[in-house]
Amino acid sequence: MAVTVIGIDGGALPKGAAQELESARLVVGGKRHLDAHAPEHARKLELGPLEPALNALSALSGDEHGVVLASGDPGFFGAVRALRERGIRCSVLPSTSSVQQLMARVGRSWDDVVVVSATGQDLARAINVCRARPAVVVLTTAPKAGPAQIGSGLTGWRRTMVVAEDLGGPNESVVTVDPAEAAKRTWREPNIVLSLADLDDVPHRGWIAGGEPVPPATGWALPEEEFSHRDGVITKAEVRAVALAKLAPRPGTLVWDVGAGSGSVAVECARLGAAAIAVESDEAHAVRLITNAASHGVDVRVEEGEAPQVLRDLPRPDAIFVGSGGSDVVTACAHAGAARVVVALAALDRVAQTREALRTAGYEVEGVQLSAARLAELPDGTSRLEAADPVVLISGRKKP
Ligand SMILES: C[S@@+](CC[C@H](N)C(=O)[O-])C[C@H]1O[C@@H](n2cnc3c(N)ncnc32)[C@H](O)[C@@H]1O
Repeated sequence: MAVTVIGIDGGALPKGAAQELESARLVVGGKRHLDAHAPEHARKLELGPLEPALNALSALSGDEHGVVLASGDPGFFGAVRALRERGIRCSVLPSTSSVQQLMARVGRSWDDVVVVSATGQDLARAINVCRARPAVVVLTTAPKAGPAQIGSGLTGWRRTMVVAEDLGGPNESVVTVDPAEAAKRTWREPNIVLSLADLDDVPHRGWIAGGEPVPPATGWALPEEEFSHRDGVITKAEVRAVALAKLAPRPGTLVWDVGAGSGSVAVECARLGAAAIAVESDEAHAVRLITNAASHGVDVRVEEGEAPQVLRDLPRPDAIFVGSGGSDVVTACAHAGAARVVVALAALDRVAQTREALRTAGYEVEGVQLSAARLAELPDGTSRLEAADPVVLISGRKKP
C-alpha cells in the first residue's frame, strides 16, 4: 500500500498531485476537497472522524494506492501525524499553509509569530497565549473554538484580531476587528485568527521562530532593583523564587497577582510565558506596575480596584498569588477555580485561617516560613548578614 497526502490551498494542486489522484484506489478527505478533486473511478471516504479513514487506508493491499486530501501543509498540525501514529508511511505533496497565506495577506513576516492550535479543550490555553504574546496565530476548530470565542476571551486585553475566512476559496475574506466585535459576529468556516498587540509593529529580526523562548536569558527571581517600588512594598527576590516555583507559570496559563503592589510577581509570571492580571487598589502602585511591565517588555493586564469585588468579572485563572488582602480575599481566591494558590503572609495569626480556607476549598496545603539573610559588605571589606523580614508562604494545589 502506498499513501500520498496532498495539501490544498485553493490554488493549483501541487506538482505530481494529478498523477497521484489518477492512480488512487481510495481518496480520503473533507467533502469540499473530495467534490473538487477526487476522480470518478476512486472510492471516496469523507472525513469526519479519522479512525474509519485510517482503517480503510491500512486495509489497502500492497499494490493499491491511497490519497489523503488535506488543507495547506498536511505536515503542519495536519493529517501526517495521525497516519504515522498508525504506522502508515506516506509521501507528502504540500501546499501553502493557512498560516503562510494569512500572513501573506496581512503583508507581515511571521518568524516571530507563535502558532497555537485551539480545540474546544485547548481553547483556554490558546487564548492565554494570545493574552501573553504580542503576535499569535490561532488554528481554530469549529464550532466551539472559533474567532467569536477567541474574541470573547481577549476582551479586556489590548489586542487586534485579523480573521481570515476561506483563504484561497470563493468566499475569501480577511477582516481586522477588535475582540469585542469578533465575539459578536458569526464567522464562516474554515477560518484562522491572527491576534496582535500592535497592528503596525515591526518586531526586530530574532534568531528562533516563534519569538524569544522562556525563561529569558536574564533569569528569574530578579532583584528588587529591577522594579520600581515604594517603601519596600515588593515581594523580595528569595520569596518570589519560591512563590514562582509553586505557581508554575508557563505558556498557556493565566495567573492573577492579587494585591500586586509593584507587580513583580505578575511581571515575572509574564516573563515566564504566562498571561497575567495584576489586581491593585492603589492608583500610584497601579501606575508603577504598568511601568514595570513595560520596562520588562511584557503585557500585564492591570485591574485597578478592590479585591474581592474586582475578581468576580475576571477570567478563570490557573494560578493565584495573594500578596496582600484580608481573609475575604483569600476565601474568594480559594474559590476562583485555580489549580494553584499561593498566599504570602507577614502576620502569623493569619496562617491557620488561610490554611483552613484553602483546605475547605479542596486544596492540598503546605506552608513554609522563609527568612533570607543576604551578605552585606561592611566598610572594612568584611561581610555581615542583613536579614529580611520573615514571610510565611501558604500554598495550595487542587486535589486531582
Ligand atoms: C487542522 S489545522 C491544519 C492546518 C493546515 N495543515 C495548514 O497548513 O494550513 C486547520 C486550520 O487551518 C484553517 N484553515 C484551513 N483551510 C483554511 C482556509 N482555506 N481559510 C482559512 N482557514 C483555513 C482551519 O480553520 C484551522 O484553523
